[in-house]
Amino acid sequence: MIQAHPPTEALNKPVIELVDLHKIYRVGTELVHALRGVNLTIRENEYVAIMGPSGSGKSTMMNIFGCLDVPTEGEYRLGGHPVARLSQSQLARVRGEQIGFVFQSFELLPRMTALKNVELPLTYQRTGAGDLLKTLIAVPRRIGGAIVSLVPGGSGQVNGQSSDMNPRTMRATEALRRVNLLDRAHHRPNQLSGGQKQRVAVARALVQNPDILLADEPTGNLDSKTGEEIMDLFDQLHAEGQTVIIVTHEDAIAARCKRVIRLLDGEIVEDGPTARAAEAAKAKPVTPAPVTEGA
Ligand SMILES: Nc1ncnc2c1ncn2[C@@H]1O[C@H](COP(=O)(O)OP(=O)(O)OP(=O)(O)O)[C@@H](O)[C@H]1O
Ligand SMILES: [Mg+2]
Repeated sequence: MIQAHPPTEALNKPVIELVDLHKIYRVGTELVHALRGVNLTIRENEYVAIMGPSGSGKSTMMNIFGCLDVPTEGEYRLGGHPVARLSQSQLARVRGEQIGFVFQSFELLPRMTALKNVELPLTYQRTGAGDLLKTLIAVPRRIGGAIVSLVPGGSGQVNGQSSDMNPRTMRATEALRRVNLLDRAHHRPNQLSGGQKQRVAVARALVQNPDILLADEPTGNLDSKTGEEIMDLFDQLHAEGQTVIIVTHEDAIAARCKRVIRLLDGEIVEDGPTARAAEAAKAKPVTPAPVTEGA
């Protein structure tokens, strides 16, 4: 039986809605039609894998979800609000507070401790530079090693084992706790394993309690066992109510999610529950449990 959503989340509020959405890139005189009329709804607490061959439009769609890019045609509604109608400052706030991004290559600042990396989105939030940081983090492949020097003041506070628990530090500490990495708070990225680095990146994405966690190939640089551990973490976040959207090339990773959307040449060619979601739906009682007498 094909259903559009896993049954348990089917009645939740939509967080992401794409309506006949197109994205066309212009490269010189050439047009690249990266998304071709995508219609899609993702609801609160869904656990979605996006799959498809290289170049099929997965990252383009994630960047639009994260308000890092805009569609050429069609509408994107985030939490029910058309994103195109947001002002620049509203957009900056949405990017900073509603969206958490995780990348294949972690994108941690090498000279900062895990804790300081997780604190960064909070550090730049009030100055407006948070938006700059998000952009830097979001386009790492184009910026590469220049990230560190572009983040103002980044290296000045690196070594400090600041003991003052200001609110930012407390929130970053809590985020590290959520990813089970408190014992590595004062390690720098080169003192962490790949899986631990990705945990720091997930903590950084979670530190503002975003509505949506977007992860573009989060296990792509990890061996399969470590990848499974990161998926254990995403499972836990999904169980806590987080909306999680993951791009992956790996069937085993997608199978851990509850819904799989497949893209081909910028179009959705398949959208349905995973075997795991179908199992979970079967295991649930069809009728509500009877009210206990005297309760
Ligand atoms: N900034 C850009 N300018 C021009 N074309 C782009 C740009 N970004 C992506 N494209 C093109 O859009 C199409 C979709 O790219 P996208 O990065 O979304 O693919 P993908 O599914 O994420 O692929 P991969 O699995 O390799 O990461 C590709 O043909 C790509 O070349
Ligand atoms: Mg991609």
